[in-house]
Amino acid sequence: MRKLMLTAVALVAGIAGASAQTYPTRPITIVVPFAAGGPSDALARVLADRMGRSLGQQVIIEDVVGASGSIGVGRVVRAAPDGYTLSIGHWSTHVVNGAIYNLPYDLLNDLAPIARLPSNPQFIVSKKSLPAGNLKELIAWLKANASEATAGTAGAGSASHVAAVYFQNITGTHFTFVPYRGTGPAMNDLIAGHIDVIIDQTSNSMPQVKAGTIKAYAVTAKERLASAPDIPTVDEAGVPGLYISVWYGLWAPKGTPKDIIAKLNAAAVEAMADPAVRKRMDTFGLEIPPRDQQSAEALGALQKAEIEKWWPIVKAAHITGE
Ligand code: MLT
Repeated sequence: MRKLMLTAVALVAGIAGASAQTYPTRPITIVVPFAAGGPSDALARVLADRMGRSLGQQVIIEDVVGASGSIGVGRVVRAAPDGYTLSIGHWSTHVVNGAIYNLPYDLLNDLAPIARLPSNPQFIVSKKSLPAGNLKELIAWLKANASEATAGTAGAGSASHVAAVYFQNITGTHFTFVPYRGTGPAMNDLIAGHIDVIIDQTSNSMPQVKAGTIKAYAVTAKERLASAPDIPTVDEAGVPGLYISVWYGLWAPKGTPKDIIAKLNAAAVEAMADPAVRKRMDTFGLEIPPRDQQSAEALGALQKAEIEKWWPIVKAAHITGE
């Protein structure tokens, strides 16, 4: 009996080993938890294309939206741990959401980190017709128009929402939040003048700022961006300390074999080393983490540290998913 069991164990281990060796044998899906056309979707598509070349299989993007990204992340938590369904997300989906939603999964223990991906700060942007020439004038306008002013967000707890709550707290402004399925569709409404402001990731806003279809007042970072040197930092523009860096990562369901995680990490690292990918990231204000920070371990450590830092802050700010 014991011999039979050992044979069975060896057989199962052999099959798992063989599948990790031949992986991937079919297309891989990366679940983006926000609407197509937004910053998460755009970053995922650039990386997926390059990762697919390294892996020898197509990497497909699926946008699964709702509850500020927590529906899409949940889809991956429940997927088979075989390396064919992955979760891309960021500071709000994989950190902040745990503080404001009653998630049916544990962000740290139900996912296996694969690689830390680029990060970007946010721009404080408004519709073009808003009559403010700088951030102080924007704040004055928001105060004078408190009952009508609107800010687009990607839902309660999204990066654009949490940043706007901080902006309100620091500046003493009040405006109404308009939730979208991502800042891609929110941006369309900002350009059309249907909403007034967004605190939006630079990668999403940059093309519109450069095209002059919206106005940018400040960047939520300590230094100006090399790709947008004319836009002042929040410290320079009058909202000191509103630093937010939206860092991205890639995760697999818990229990995904280690050698599959290693293959995926290698493909993500190769993508981030590709000069064409690096150039695109630079243009959009996305910063690629240093090579020693691109590991699965570095992503896991960052996520844990950010949960410890942000959960008390987000809970104290009474941001809820309602
Ligand atoms: C998106 O992809 O739409 C964004 O990451 C949303 C956000 O968190 O602001």
